[in-house]
Amino acid sequence: MPAETLLQRARNVAERAYAPYSKFKVGAALLTSDGSVIVGCNVENASYGMSICAERSAVASMIAMGHLDPVAIAVVGGRSGTPCPPCGACRQVLAEFNPNMLVVLESPNKVIVMSANELLPLSFSLTERT
Ligand code: THU
Repeated sequence: MPAETLLQRARNVAERAYAPYSKFKVGAALLTSDGSVIVGCNVENASYGMSICAERSAVASMIAMGHLDPVAIAVVGGRSGTPCPPCGACRQVLAEFNPNMLVVLESPNKVIVMSANELLPLSFSLTERT
């Protein structure tokens, strides 16, 4: 699937974000190995710390829908055309499911594509590293 298609899905779901406090709407579209696209948006709360990011919202939906194999995620937020890189907490959650997952971001010139592992080297793991 072209990166631009996945970015468009993320843009569409960002419109549904619930962000009355920050006014910063984020959308994420996850592509799984069978070609499914699963979306998520940020959902804020009056108790600010209870807010959930778009990326983790998409991952939660992915698991609920029975998928375990994300291959890419597009993330958009804030001003159109500028990158909205996943926060540190979301990077750890993305790495859990596939360190090689491609993270696709808007940018003024050309789309940015980086792996989850590039965005979070040495992510925490309970299994031993050699
Ligand atoms: N947010 C995300 O949805 N994803 C991120 O990776 C970083 C931040 C949301 C959380 C909050 O609702 C808003 O952006 C402003 O921080």
